[in-house]
Amino acid sequence: MAQHVSVSRAAQLLGVSRSVLQSQVRDGLLVLNQGLVAIDSLMALYPHTRLLVSRSLDQAQEVRERPLPSQEVLSQRVFAQSQELADVRLHLQRYHELVISLQTRVRECIRQHPTEGAWRELEQQVTQGLAKALATESVDLFEVMDDMLKVMTAQVTVRPSGHEFLVEGRANLLQSGLHSGLKLNYGCSDGSCGMCKVRVISGEVVRTQNFNYLLSEAEKAQGYTLMCCHTAASSELTLEMLEARGPQDIPEQLIMAHVRAVSELAPDTRLLHLQSPRSQRLRFLAGQSVSLGWKLPGQDDVHSTYPIGSCPCDDRNLLFFIGRDEADEFARLLFAGDIQPGATITAAGPTGEFVLADGHRPLVFAACDYGFVPINSLIEHALSLEAYPSISLFWLATRSEGHFLGNHCRAWSEALDQFEYELVTHPDVTVGAQKILKSMRADLFDIDCDFYLAGPRDFVTTLHDELRAAGVAAAQIFMQVM
Ligand code: FES
Repeated sequence: MAQHVSVSRAAQLLGVSRSVLQSQVRDGLLVLNQGLVAIDSLMALYPHTRLLVSRSLDQAQEVRERPLPSQEVLSQRVFAQSQELADVRLHLQRYHELVISLQTRVRECIRQHPTEGAWRELEQQVTQGLAKALATESVDLFEVMDDMLKVMTAQVTVRPSGHEFLVEGRANLLQSGLHSGLKLNYGCSDGSCGMCKVRVISGEVVRTQNFNYLLSEAEKAQGYTLMCCHTAASSELTLEMLEARGPQDIPEQLIMAHVRAVSELAPDTRLLHLQSPRSQRLRFLAGQSVSLGWKLPGQDDVHSTYPIGSCPCDDRNLLFFIGRDEADEFARLLFAGDIQPGATITAAGPTGEFVLADGHRPLVFAACDYGFVPINSLIEHALSLEAYPSISLFWLATRSEGHFLGNHCRAWSEALDQFEYELVTHPDVTVGAQKILKSMRADLFDIDCDFYLAGPRDFVTTLHDELRAAGVAAAQIFMQVM
């Protein structure tokens, strides 16, 4: 019988991203059967995997290097697998006994009716079949690795969206889902508000920390649990939950964070790293902005709105890339060194609609100067979702040393096959936008992509108009003027 695995598990076993397998499903190279792929068809598509799995020791080593779940979780998963194994053994034993008794009965029939050839044929068939079933065959290492991974990492399927994520090590369900780029509902992250409540449809969860929120008896009976205080005890889990559809589902928040670090990325660019308390995190979507506020003793608050440059998958650590601007009081104080590590900053929001749309088209990002900040957040989010076949980035700087995260782009491109980028420098925004268009065209221009444009108005409108003229649908162009 063909074994099946989920797309997430297959990607983990093959060491490829989920988006690669998903595009092979879309191209008809892999067939999904109730959300699962057959191991046989994976082997046919990735014949080299046989060679890889034959290096079982290396693979086992890789698996051993993954972060371990807690002892309690490990023992529950090993216990579940042992039960499954015992069940299979029992069934095998019963089938074996059945075949042996049939064989004995057939031999009796041969003795009673020695002239009937059909009984001899049947006896021969049973004996040969039994010998084949008992023959020792090499074990399928792909399945062995799958079983090992089931103990180390759990797979969660979300209903009704069908999204999937893996739970590694000691992470709770909320952390794991956010890390995979899902737009989950949550608030306090410490078991007080109940906003991360979900229903367990199948599988087992185990508590990872105490919580104050009281689930009603009816909720408990229906299988509700808090994602921020539980992890997967079984290797497979199905949860029913509502996910945010877009900015309209993200509530307005006001949090107090402290400055973890201020560092110079370029002469005119500072990285402001804020960290929020564990129990008061900012829930936002990649590409959104917040208003930051700081108060000097005896003076009025200063406020400015900046795009968040980091990924919502790490909601405690908020990164802002802020440019020198004498007209912006918050930026002026930051560059003057008044805002120091340890200072308390308020963050109000989030605001903005420049977020990643659902879809599976290749992504093309074009940024000018600090338009790269929300784009950075969107790329980080897209990478954690693993849902896009390719990502291209074009970044125009209108002054020297304007590519303040150029090394970061290089690191993505070296680490990821599906990521490519080009850094462009030109003092004129419109001419720079034209240069980017030229590069896009030279790069086998494909209109069936989603385009995200961020930067000054002239940059965004030039690119928008040219893309529309090239036949890109308006619904595939997302813009942020800043
Ligand atoms: S996020 Fe508040 S209880 Fe889980």
